[in-house]
Amino acid sequence: MTKPLLSSDYAPERGYLVGVALQRERALLSIDDSLDELALLAETAGIKVVGRAWQRLRQINPKSLIGSGKLLEIVEDVALHEAGVVIFDDELSPRHQRELEKRLGESVRLLDRSALILDIFAQHARTSEGALQVELAQYEYRLPRLTRQWTHLARQAGGGGARGGSGGVGLRGPGETQLEVDRREITRKITKLKSELEHVRAHRNLHRQRRRRSGLPLAALVGYTNAGKSTLINALTDANIYAADQLFATLDPTTRRLQLPDRRELLLSDTVGFIQKLPTTLIAAFRATLEEVFEADLLLHVVDASHPNAAQHIEAVEDTLAEIDAASMPRILVLNKTDRLDGRPPSFDLVDTYLGAAAISAQEKQGLDELRDLMGAALEAQMTSLEVVIPYQTGKVYSDLYDRGYIQSEQTNSDGWRLQLRLPKTQCESYRRFAVSETS
Ligand code: GTP
Repeated sequence: MTKPLLSSDYAPERGYLVGVALQRERALLSIDDSLDELALLAETAGIKVVGRAWQRLRQINPKSLIGSGKLLEIVEDVALHEAGVVIFDDELSPRHQRELEKRLGESVRLLDRSALILDIFAQHARTSEGALQVELAQYEYRLPRLTRQWTHLARQAGGGGARGGSGGVGLRGPGETQLEVDRREITRKITKLKSELEHVRAHRNLHRQRRRRSGLPLAALVGYTNAGKSTLINALTDANIYAADQLFATLDPTTRRLQLPDRRELLLSDTVGFIQKLPTTLIAAFRATLEEVFEADLLLHVVDASHPNAAQHIEAVEDTLAEIDAASMPRILVLNKTDRLDGRPPSFDLVDTYLGAAAISAQEKQGLDELRDLMGAALEAQMTSLEVVIPYQTGKVYSDLYDRGYIQSEQTNSDGWRLQLRLPKTQCESYRRFAVSETS
């Protein structure tokens, strides 16, 4: 029987990590730091790391990624450490995967960072949309890589998520013909998942419209995995979101209501954590979930300021934001976990991409008032001043404006209510026809 990757019913699987540093390529993290991060990912997936190796290369070996001498060493070391799974830090091409599987032998499973992240996501997805997205990303990742391990991994797809696993098709047969059957089966599943997702998304859009009608501004939390986003949303809103010292503990966006010091209200939304080398299939799959980000009036970029690679984490998040076309969104930098800095100030140059920065400890609830003030000021900067005349027969518009804007003065004239107000720029479009003047 195949051992499930993420089941807690089994003793942890023994894992061996392999990294490659290309001489001329500028990597975000050093190879050691990147392997440390991979080790955390492996632990999160329930794998015990028993060894690691890396190679600096001028160029990758087209056949086996790493040099054949180094590969031989690794095969021996894997056997010595009795590792059952070998995990590469970079995404393996289908060709590399086939060759490496051959060289590692039948008794060793081969994974790469992407497959590992996909498995963790599958375990952590709580909503049906999250589970569907991960399952789809897993099948899309697997399709070009179908080999002897596919049957096992197909069973994993969606496993542990809200849907409780796809069950897989469990087909295993000799040679090409079986592969063809498997390919057709996966393609069929991909089509089915896409249509299920469309259905779920249509439903979510309804929720979103309802929220838009609530008219409250939206701030979305983004950040590197484990930065403390869930802890912060809990601290700010008394929500009860699962926060854990695990990578990708939160997968599905959660939205909560928050009151600012001036009694204004806004919505705060948690999003999936980012990580360097995030699989492209996953970014694509989560684009829809990340729509929360595009819809937001303000982003809070949360950073673990106590992490030695905090600056690289900021860069990885900024890269991902650029990749999803969110690089121009207004945002503030939230330097979290300052309780771990022993009174030292976090050392960051505030890049001009940010409207401001707040040093906080979400866990100790320190610096939250300053953060709320900063959020209020940043939202204020997103507002426009309008003077409108609302005819008396459109009382609904008048009450909507009281819900959505900050009314500064009101007069009752013969032609209707004359209001001076501040309104989020994103909301202005619907009221422009009543405007007599507008200044930002
Ligand atoms: P993902 O779900 O991976 O995206 O993580 P996240 O950004 O939501 O992080 P989460 O809130 O789950 O926190 C990660 C870990 O950091 C947890 O163990 C928290 O208790 C811890 N943590 C969060 N904020 C602080 C803080 O201000 N100080 C300290 N010391 N630990 C913190």
